[in-house]
Amino acid sequence: MNSRKFVLGIETSCDETSIAVLKPPRTILSNIISSSLKKHEPFGGVVPEIACRHHLENIHIVLEQALKKANISIKDIGLIAVTHKPGLIGALLVGVSFAKSLSLSLKIPLIGVNHLEAHLEVNRVEFPNFKPPFLGLIVSGGHTTLVKVLKEGAYNVLGGTTDDAVGEAFDKTAKLMGLGYPGGPIIDKLAEKGNPDAVSFGYARMPGTFNFSYSGLKTAVLNYLRKKKISDEERKDVAASFQKSAIEILVSKTFLAAKANNLKKIAVGGGVSANRYLRKRFYEEAVKNNVKVFFPKIEFTIDNGAMVAMSGFRKWKLRKKSNLKLQALPSCGW
Ligand code: KG4
Ligand code: ZN
Repeated sequence: MNSRKFVLGIETSCDETSIAVLKPPRTILSNIISSSLKKHEPFGGVVPEIACRHHLENIHIVLEQALKKANISIKDIGLIAVTHKPGLIGALLVGVSFAKSLSLSLKIPLIGVNHLEAHLEVNRVEFPNFKPPFLGLIVSGGHTTLVKVLKEGAYNVLGGTTDDAVGEAFDKTAKLMGLGYPGGPIIDKLAEKGNPDAVSFGYARMPGTFNFSYSGLKTAVLNYLRKKKISDEERKDVAASFQKSAIEILVSKTFLAAKANNLKKIAVGGGVSANRYLRKRFYEEAVKNNVKVFFPKIEFTIDNGAMVAMSGFRKWKLRKKSNLKLQALPSCGW
């Protein structure tokens, strides 16, 4: 890749079709996101077929808009980065096939990116000196994963969810409460005016491990709602109490893992990292524990092409490259 050229980042692993243009090393010129979120709302969760069709119908429009906003031509692109794992297989296939055809026709290199790595690496946009060693926490609709990163690209999984992901727990709980989809931002807002200590929801804490379990917490809310009809005021308390339980377990295990591994930096990424209670608690504990916490800008917390471009460019600098055999892989493979 010519160093004056730009990097294209393509993301289609779930319900966001997104393409970004990166001016290396870290200036995001455009980051267009077309979400199929509204189309999934009646079902209370992502319907894979609907997500795939949305990617197919929109990816070329998103590319046009990304180039236009960056004020460049497709010929100025020198590297194509694309999410190839993990995610919905059909959704990944749209992005990977699109990226391969661009790489082939433009005769420029292609790099496959791990979506979870990208959620953490987008922190480099704001923090140029952000580098390993660090502890990473990925919290999204599909993942709740703690990773130890001792050197560039070497990810060591310490733990993860054994059932629902934390974002999924937010979405399912919001559905039980008769709120909209996705539930995370709605609960975040509702919880602001509620009492987090109003209800104590019991759930499995998986002691002695860095694993998480969220299915019990969701069931505890369900059982509570079955027992009594709640007023609008009580609904705020339920949202705040659920949120506190869902987040506090992340806080305690993450800081425990940092201490156990002697890591002084923590990077958080993924949709749930936009949560205000989570950010507040991580910053508070960071001061107490003398650890530095990194959060991406809110616009880079949901799935986006910018994070893919950033991660792809780092890989390219490490002389990693993919070829036309690049596969779409539904699971992570760390
Ligand atoms: O990273 P993301 O866009 O997609 C996946 O890779 O899954 O994350 C989406 C998830 C959804 O479950 C959504 O409810 C959650 O992130 N989310 C939030 C907030 N904003 C988005 N959860 C809690 N609080 C928020 N403010
Ligand atoms: Zn994601």
